[in-house]
Amino acid sequence: MEVLGIDIGGSGIKGAPVDTNKGTLIAERHRIPTPQPSTPENVIEVVGQIATHFDWNGPIGCTFPAVVKRGVVYSAANVEDEWIGTPGQQMIQERTGCPTFLLNDADAAGYAEVQFGAGKDRDGVIMILTLGTGIGSALFVDGILVPNTELGHVYLHDVDAEERASNRAREAEDLSWKKWAKRLDEYLLHIESLFSPDLFIIGGGVSKKHEKFLPRLTVKTEVVPAKLRNEAGIIGAALAAQSLV
Ligand code: BGC
Repeated sequence: MEVLGIDIGGSGIKGAPVDTNKGTLIAERHRIPTPQPSTPENVIEVVGQIATHFDWNGPIGCTFPAVVKRGVVYSAANVEDEWIGTPGQQMIQERTGCPTFLLNDADAAGYAEVQFGAGKDRDGVIMILTLGTGIGSALFVDGILVPNTELGHVYLHDVDAEERASNRAREAEDLSWKKWAKRLDEYLLHIESLFSPDLFIIGGGVSKKHEKFLPRLTVKTEVVPAKLRNEAGIIGAALAAQSLV
């Protein structure tokens, strides 16, 4: 079936219709810079513009970089605080007139990777970690998601892990790959000790450069780069929204 997938990020809001049977985009993705300030009103308006761009009149799956339960946003680590308590799903539905499912961005990327990417045909406990502005996490047990795990916020050296091991931290502190890989390794060892996963999938833009850091990791669990890269959010959001039909 065809579902419009939309991925709300800190710098861009991207969308494309998705063939959910194949896990592929049906049309070229459309990107609009995230409005500043990224208040609920401004962001929902852009989501509406993306639906209009595709002349969309069907189900929509949409990601958001925070905790989302039953369509309501519950946290705001890297977005405006105004989002906390906002019924984002309902607002998109009202703006577009389309049935909508809103979910956490890493959870969406996880759906895409587990069904069509690096976690395809793998069972057991799979942990997807997206390393971008923050660190997003998605935990799957035999294909079933435990939503909103928020493992970018476990403490490492008295700060949120994402402040030390995200790609933003690497860039902001101008860390060498070696130094950053050490921090990432420390983080993965911690997560490994808590969850004993069977597989780590590393997503986010930095996964393109996996050869710079994966060989330096000492973690025992198998670690692989994500396959769907920057389309994972769009595809995963569409997969999650299939349940609406
Ligand atoms: C947020 C998560 C999100 C992750 C990646 C974190 O700061 O708390 O909800 O999945 O960033 O965007």
